[in-house]
Amino acid sequence: MRLLFVCLGNICRSPTAEAVMIALVAQRGLSEEITCDSAGTSGWHVGEQADARMRRHAEARGYCLTSRSRQVRPADFAEFDYLVAMDDSNCEDLRGLERADGYNDRIVKMTDYCRNYQVDAIPDPYYGGSAGFERVIDLLEDACTGLLDTITRSDSQA
Ligand code: 4NP
Repeated sequence: MRLLFVCLGNICRSPTAEAVMIALVAQRGLSEEITCDSAGTSGWHVGEQADARMRRHAEARGYCLTSRSRQVRPADFAEFDYLVAMDDSNCEDLRGLERADGYNDRIVKMTDYCRNYQVDAIPDPYYGGSAGFERVIDLLEDACTGLLDTITRSDSQA
């Protein structure tokens, strides 16, 4: 099972989603079965480390953000089982890409897996303050747990 987390810049939300999911997967002993990556719909920050504020907040909560920003590639649609978007705009951008045809059911929204929060997006923290970065981590911990439970449940039924 391969998961690709997707946001706009791939320097705040999706690298954090990747790190949170990697930690959860490791906790459950599933690192051989489930692999994670992240990418941006834009190429604005390609090659950059995750945002320093995001890294600092994530590290304080035990997550190490090591990824470098990359843009979504056409081949990602075939290579990943789920492309997990952080908001509706990311979903629309993914659906609009050439090569998305035939793979639309692989595009899902992160917040659809939240169980403790009723939200319809992981809000972009880039232009805001500390609270926004903490909020991103709170929401992603909830959503990643829900997504992992969903995946492992459907796997065991297969
Ligand atoms: P992300 O946040 O999509 O969560 O990585 C953003 C990062 C950069 C920009 C916007 C959102 N930007 O406008 O450069």
